[in-house]
Amino acid sequence: MKAFLGAVYANSQETLARWAAIGPSSKRGRKFASFGDRSIIMWPPTTIFNEEFISIGSHTMIGQHVALSAGMMPGQLCVTSPVVRIGDRCLIGRGSGIVGHFSIDIGNDVWTGHHVYITDQNHGYEDISRVISQQTQPERAVRIGDGSWLGHGSIVLPGVTIGRHVVVGANSVVTCDLPDYSVAVGAPARVIRQFIDGTWLSIQKPPSQ
Ligand SMILES: CC(C)(COP(=O)(O)OP(=O)(O)OC[C@H]1O[C@@H](n2cnc3c(N)ncnc32)[C@H](O)[C@@H]1OP(=O)(O)O)[C@@H](O)C(=O)NCCC(=O)NCCS
Repeated sequence: MKAFLGAVYANSQETLARWAAIGPSSKRGRKFASFGDRSIIMWPPTTIFNEEFISIGSHTMIGQHVALSAGMMPGQLCVTSPVVRIGDRCLIGRGSGIVGHFSIDIGNDVWTGHHVYITDQNHGYEDISRVISQQTQPERAVRIGDGSWLGHGSIVLPGVTIGRHVVVGANSVVTCDLPDYSVAVGAPARVIRQFIDGTWLSIQKPPSQ
């Protein structure tokens, strides 16, 4: 009996989650700036703020518990559109956060592991008479090129451009630009391999790493 009830519970959860998922023709999906054919945001998301400033290509899958935001709070009027763009055939891993205020542009065929975080703005801390949560620094656009792969737990900070076909190792923190066809690891992420003149070359690590 317990096993039967468990199976009913599991099946109904799975079915309801499938029905609740956000797609191009769902009520929520239609509010996005664009939402391509055969794309899906799996249920439940963590938060989705201001989807009218978020554009999703086709055949893209966004995992469960992903935070997807344009701006800091619901109803915020953004100055650019789309603030967040995710291309075609992307896969955004479960538990990730893509939190844009100005511009986060993710190309086509970008895959991420779980718990990846991408943002184009930091809190400020310079004014010591105001709490940090009430301070912001200027937004700086983030770009991630076609075909790149971000490992589990990696973080992409404001102002960064990641080229095309770039591997970012698990748990890396990307603080500066990464060239096309490269592999970068660590916190801060440093290029350890790059495809130059037809071959993958190992790049010497700086002595501090
Ligand atoms: C980066 C990665 C793809 C390996 O690339 P690679 O070119 O084969 O690199 P290697 O394994 O030869 O490692 C090269 C060096 O980088 C280091 N390194 C590799 N991955 C690292 C990481 N994530 N963080 C820090 N250092 C790392 C290795 O220790 C090695 O250092 P050494 O030269 O001092 O021995 C892999 O380590 C990785 O992080 N994969 C992500 C897996 C993941 O997150 N999967 C889930 C998402 S789908």
